[in-house]
Amino acid sequence: MECTLNVNGRSHTLSVRPDETLMDALRDRLNLTGTKEGCAEGDCGACTIQVDGRAVNACLLLAADAEGREIRTIEGLAQNGELSALQRAFVENGGIQCGFCIPGMLMSADALLQKNPKPTDREIREALAGNLCRCTGYIKIFQSVRAAAEKPAG
Ligand code: FES
Ligand code: FES
Repeated sequence: MECTLNVNGRSHTLSVRPDETLMDALRDRLNLTGTKEGCAEGDCGACTIQVDGRAVNACLLLAADAEGREIRTIEGLAQNGELSALQRAFVENGGIQCGFCIPGMLMSADALLQKNPKPTDREIREALAGNLCRCTGYIKIFQSVRAAAEKPAG
């Protein structure tokens, strides 16, 4: 079936299977492989993207159901080749080890900061609760988001 997806401000008309997830359509048809496939069952958060400004697991959403919605992936965070303040904070605070979970972490944290630029520690932890990391122990990830929230936007 044909569907038109608006991804990172660009419109793409694709032919997808009725049971095709948005995660598969992004990765396999649009080559947006920054969205990671972990469990493919909604448990790990590696595939987190934003749909209409909310962090969602792309493995749980059908591509066809995302038609007409505003989809943002990790590839849409940097602007004009410049990392976002949140991305820079992860680099500066050592929030990244193997990196596999990081696109999902960033999309969850970015959704939080868009809605709530000055979150409490608890709100940061809640926003990241669905994103699993097998490397970092989470402390530096948390500190990266905290640091980004304390900097002026830019
Ligand atoms: Fe989607 Fe794990 S791959 S939640
Ligand atoms: Fe390796 Fe999180 S940095 S899984």
